[in-house]
Amino acid sequence: MAKAEQLNDLLARLDKKRLPAHIAIIMDGNGRWATRRHLPRSAGHKAGMEALRQAVELCSEIGIHILTVYAFSTENWRRPADEVGFLMRLFIQYLEGEVALMNEQGIRLGFLGSREALPAAVLLALAQAQKSTAQNERMLLNIAVNYGGRDELARAIRSLALKVRDGQFSPEHINEQVIGAALDTAGAPDPELMIRTSGELRISNFLIWQAAYSELYFSDKLWPDFNKRDLLTAILDFQGRNRRFGRTEQQMAKD
Ligand code: FPP
Repeated sequence: MAKAEQLNDLLARLDKKRLPAHIAIIMDGNGRWATRRHLPRSAGHKAGMEALRQAVELCSEIGIHILTVYAFSTENWRRPADEVGFLMRLFIQYLEGEVALMNEQGIRLGFLGSREALPAAVLLALAQAQKSTAQNERMLLNIAVNYGGRDELARAIRSLALKVRDGQFSPEHINEQVIGAALDTAGAPDPELMIRTSGELRISNFLIWQAAYSELYFSDKLWPDFNKRDLLTAILDFQGRNRRFGRTEQQMAKD
């Protein structure tokens, strides 16, 4: 009861007109959550999946347009093979299990990352979930799997270089817009708020181009413990910040 009231109190303080259009989350701390409970790391990832469900539900409820989550980095392949295999199976389970709810709530699924090296079963589940939710317009849920910001930039630069080589446009036309349109997030606004859990203070190669002006929010909570109230608290913190984009306080006051 007290919890519900607290959530409602936080909701009441939310300024619905100043919601971040795009929130990015580095869901960190599943392994430590499990270790502290003397459980296998896989139990932490399972609990992390539940926390993701809660985050998606809250974003959908309050009207966040885009949520992008970091599920597996290009560096995560270095983990023990059984953990990598477990995570891949968990992604498939999540994708297959969530599609009906996504369609009910008008959520479209997006994918960020390199398809290279992903198991065929994951690619199939992604393709099916994307196809099944393609017409939904209320919210976009981007899942970053086999994603690295530097890898994304390298892929984008390669695709632009090929276009230049094929005479489709000249190097003079390459600007920030062209680069943005060649990234996995093409067409989406940059994240206004980037959250990382588990007390680590870095962005670990996540959306390194797109996060240039993101407000960063770090929580000490481990991802499986990060609940709706924590997410709302992060959004409220964002709403209290002064975003100047290089302009002065005086200029902002005139607008
Ligand atoms: C980081 O915690 C988390 C991951 C590498 C995996 C993220 C996956 C989930 C949240 C599961 C659900 C996701 C989907 C898309 C179904 P960590 O394992 O690095 O934790 P540690 O730093 O404490 O070891």
